[in-house]
Amino acid sequence: MSTPKITIIYYSTYGTNHGVAQTAAKAAEDAGAEVRLRRVAETAPAEVVAGQDAWKAAAEAQSDIPEATLDDVDWADGLFLSSPTRFGTVASQMRAFIDTLGPLWMEGKLADKTVTATTSSQNPNGGAESTLLGFYTTFMHWGAIIVPPGYTDAVKFEDGGNPYGFSTTPGALDDIGQRSVAHQARRLTEVTARLGG
Ligand SMILES: Cc1cc2nc3c(=O)[nH]c(=O)nc-3n(C[C@H](O)[C@H](O)[C@H](O)COP(=O)(O)O)c2cc1C
Repeated sequence: MSTPKITIIYYSTYGTNHGVAQTAAKAAEDAGAEVRLRRVAETAPAEVVAGQDAWKAAAEAQSDIPEATLDDVDWADGLFLSSPTRFGTVASQMRAFIDTLGPLWMEGKLADKTVTATTSSQNPNGGAESTLLGFYTTFMHWGAIIVPPGYTDAVKFEDGGNPYGFSTTPGALDDIGQRSVAHQARRLTEVTARLGG
């Protein structure tokens, strides 16, 4: 089995999805993947970010993580995407990045990649599932291979049980959540390796 190449791409205003992405990156590495951890570019005006202490602090905490590029997607055999829920769907910053992928799509380079997604929402029932299904609708347009967690590990009976992907609320990434994210990243890595990496 070859070494699978996994790119973790996330957006996070306040740090929740940053934490999820870091946990996923470590788990994928531990499972034998070569990993790139990337954040999508901020699209909100700098003065808006600077005007909110929590947003500004989270942006500074992520400043060492490279911004995602088309090459990070092209390079990967598998993708792990994470975004906050915004009005029931994927954050516009993540959508803006996804909308730059047209050239790869046109060349068929998004097809056959393995993909999985996670999210966070203020309210447990505030749209996490529709956000993940929004991601997955896009992945189907790519011809990608969706690798949801389902109930493939006992942790899915502890973490709130979202079979589409791990979902959490801000500040709630506890031990159970970290184990669930790790399971999802490990599963993505293992399925990718089985497909030939
Ligand atoms: C414009 C906007 C829309 C949001 N819409 C929802 C929503 O539909 N449902 C919900 O539960 N939370 C909603 N939230 C809360 C975010 O999901 C929450 O801030 C996010 O999960 C935190 O993730 P982060 O720390 O990675 O930024 C919204 C937040 C903003 C700023």
